[in-house]
Amino acid sequence: MEQGELLSILERHNENRSGLIPILEDIQARYNHLPAEALRVLADETGRSLVDVYGVATFYKAFSLKPRGKHLCSVCTGTACHVRGAPIIVEESERQLGTNAGSTTSDKEFTLETIHCLGACALGPIVVVDGHYFSNVSRSKVSRIIKRTRDGLDKVDVEGDRRIFPITVTCSRCNHSLMDPGHAIDDAPSIRVTVSFGRKHGWLRLSSLYGSYNLECEYDIPTDTLVQVFCPHCHSGLKGASNCPDCGAPMISMIARGGGIVQVCSRRGCKGHMLDLNGGGF
Ligand code: FES
Repeated sequence: MEQGELLSILERHNENRSGLIPILEDIQARYNHLPAEALRVLADETGRSLVDVYGVATFYKAFSLKPRGKHLCSVCTGTACHVRGAPIIVEESERQLGTNAGSTTSDKEFTLETIHCLGACALGPIVVVDGHYFSNVSRSKVSRIIKRTRDGLDKVDVEGDRRIFPITVTCSRCNHSLMDPGHAIDDAPSIRVTVSFGRKHGWLRLSSLYGSYNLECEYDIPTDTLVQVFCPHCHSGLKGASNCPDCGAPMISMIARGGGIVQVCSRRGCKGHMLDLNGGGF
């Protein structure tokens, strides 16, 4: 680890060094984990105690103190996924990757881990690879997921990708539809809301394909910015009841057709999202 490189990461946060999470995210993005030396330098440079820095670094599952592989493969072993066959999925993933849960493959391509409930219990067993959700995973699907990951997960294949499915959402306050059939993203009606950050306030359209991160906005929203999102009809804030499991930011919440709850992270660039088809409201 080059100290100069680390200092240049810290320099990018000169204007606001009080928030550790964005700095830790940048360090992890560069090194694929949080090296002990980097945390020591971070503590020195920000005037925080090493205990504080480690407290944040170990609180969120998104951070790792051990080197991770290029791809992070997480198998949900929460109760609902467990009874739907998660142990078989863990076993098959270990067999296909040649490593144990909690470890990284020798070629440093994959880290395999087990995690607890992701809030999409009705669709279990759930596997998440690099933020992409795979639902109803069976033993035979595991090898396809791994192959798909090696081929490039960020390519959104709207037609053939079974991870991507359409959702229809309404405002949790006024129950008005948030769908905008007149403006498509990913060839599907977009979700139209209003967004506010800093002194800016304007429209935001999200893809209605769960699993796609495509969006359009009246303004460029800088990475890491926390935004507030409002219903364009009743102007209520669409603030969720929980925080993002990846970065801790507040979640944005909408009602999915059929009574479930869709939540997406309010931090630009974070891929944290949840779908709870059992949820009935707030
Ligand atoms: S138990 Fe796996 S998503 Fe809830």
